[in-house]
Amino acid sequence: MKVVSVIGQKGGSSKSTVALNLAVCAEQAGYSVAVIDTDPQGSAHKWFERREAETPSIVREIDPDALPRLIKIAASNKTDLLIVDTPGKAEATALAVSELADLILAPVKPTQFDLETLGAVKRTIRIAEKMDAGWVMLSQVPASSKKIADEGEAAVQGYGLKLVPHKFMTRADFAYSMSSGLAATEFEPKGKAAEEARALFAWVRGILGLADPSKRKLADA
Ligand SMILES: Nc1ncnc2c1ncn2[C@@H]1O[C@H](COP(=O)(O)OP(=O)(O)OP(=O)(O)O)[C@@H](O)[C@H]1O
Ligand SMILES: [Mg+2]
Repeated sequence: MKVVSVIGQKGGSSKSTVALNLAVCAEQAGYSVAVIDTDPQGSAHKWFERREAETPSIVREIDPDALPRLIKIAASNKTDLLIVDTPGKAEATALAVSELADLILAPVKPTQFDLETLGAVKRTIRIAEKMDAGWVMLSQVPASSKKIADEGEAAVQGYGLKLVPHKFMTRADFAYSMSSGLAATEFEPKGKAAEEARALFAWVRGILGLADPSKRKLADA
């Protein structure tokens, strides 16, 4: 089982949107997926309550000390991918989930105030001794200005952080799908948001070296 932690200093940076879109893309690709929602706001949990489908399973746990045990349970339940969503401005939680992660994703909006929080994000990743596993991803990038995206990318690199080679533009489908208990790939499968979500998942899958689920099932049989 691989663990992806989605962290960030700033509220509203797309952490839950990234976590839940990845979870659904992974399910659609045939993986067994679970999400831990460590945010007291419970956004991922509320998303699940709006959802008709019964997967991916979402567990609420705001106590970082309980995470190692939950991760063990998920692994023993044959979960392929565990995604941990975190609150903004919660250093202790971000540190705890970073320590446990195979991949840390930190979505950030390409605005001055948001990019300025990357120093704190880097500190967390460094304290967790996970610089190799830590990646920043631009989200809510306005489609109208390439300059903003370019400056955002330069800022991430300026902090000495790795940049995910995929981004989520500002797209209504990301917002609408979340409020309907869906992911972009379910809400408008042929839309651009869905395309971006699938591209991000394909990259995550490669980085984690997730085995092809159809081959794994044959091996298990
Ligand atoms: N790429 C996007 N395009 C359009 N809207 C987006 C995008 N990403 C996120 N949003 C919207 O922005 C808001 C914040 O996103 P989200 O809840 O994913 O952020 P968060 O980092 O989890 O916030 P919090 O810190 O409160 O947990 C939500 O209303 C969401 O629907
Ligand atoms: Mg959130």
